Amino acid sequence: MIILKKPWEVSESEVTPENIFHQRRKFMQAGTALGTALLLSPWKNVAASMEIGSYKRNVITLDEEITKEQDVASYNNFYEFGTGKEDPARRAKKFNTSDWKITVGGECNKPGEYALEDLVDSNAIEERIYRLRCVEAWSMVIPWLGIPLASVINKLEPSSNAKYVAFKTLHDPRQMPGQNRSILQWPYREGLRIDEAMNPLTLLSVGMYGKTMPNQNGAPVRLVVPWKYGFKSIKSIVSIDFTEEQPPTSWNMSSGREYGFYSNVNPEVNHPRWSQKKERRIGDLFKRETMMFNGYEEEVAGMYDGMDLRANY
Ligand code: MTE
Repeated sequence: MIILKKPWEVSESEVTPENIFHQRRKFMQAGTALGTALLLSPWKNVAASMEIGSYKRNVITLDEEITKEQDVASYNNFYEFGTGKEDPARRAKKFNTSDWKITVGGECNKPGEYALEDLVDSNAIEERIYRLRCVEAWSMVIPWLGIPLASVINKLEPSSNAKYVAFKTLHDPRQMPGQNRSILQWPYREGLRIDEAMNPLTLLSVGMYGKTMPNQNGAPVRLVVPWKYGFKSIKSIVSIDFTEEQPPTSWNMSSGREYGFYSNVNPEVNHPRWSQKKERRIGDLFKRETMMFNGYEEEVAGMYDGMDLRANY
């Protein structure tokens, strides 16, 4: 059963800004109705995208202005819903995320089909404010909600053969009209080396701005890997596989010369068709310098010691 706190039971540390509070309250009312439905329903896991109750605020923050929520939710890359920046918000409105399942396989001791709620502990959700740097040279600062991917991986007990983790997005052309065109090989695929997947910064995200993940941002669950170009942060994940070999990834399959497997943000390595030295922060007038590893050098550079970052772009 879903236990929803009344507003007056919320502790001081959980108090949210007023606008978010009102939006959340609406959601909680919807949640109460859902709770009743659940009581009457013989099925478990009928809930749509993950409900956001209380969460640990500001677990990782930035001393930078947060991008307007409206911009983050309306300027998107989600090719399953079209290639225009406004397509996903418009065309993903009816995307059905209820009863979401994630299939886990490969080199691990706990393969199987999991309900989202069984992989992501809704009581462990934390807020992390990260930069997002798209390979197209724009960026945002987003307050994500989620749990470290490492905590999920630990539950799944990868074997010592697991050198990589591969992810896939849902493939359902009836719901995702962009999949009727072969812009990419569907489903969208991404992957990380196991140490990258276990890095404390890597987040499995179920929400943003204090609320459930909007469909256009990758509901109900997506990856957020802040030191890599945005296309590594795969949306609407339905499968997680532990592999011994480096898995194929969508953008690399489409144009390997332009999009490498690693795709760490690196102002010194240009895209063959444009410079990566600067970026346009959405909402800003002037461009700013792009930072090595998107500003997360201290936390992640050690993973690439001795690696030629030009060859392994
Ligand atoms: N995941 C899927 N399944 N399909 C996509 O087209 N686009 C990627 C990434 N994840 C994409 C995806 C790209 S290029 C970026 S920059 C980010 O999602 C954008 O995330 P946002 O729309 O939430 O800002």
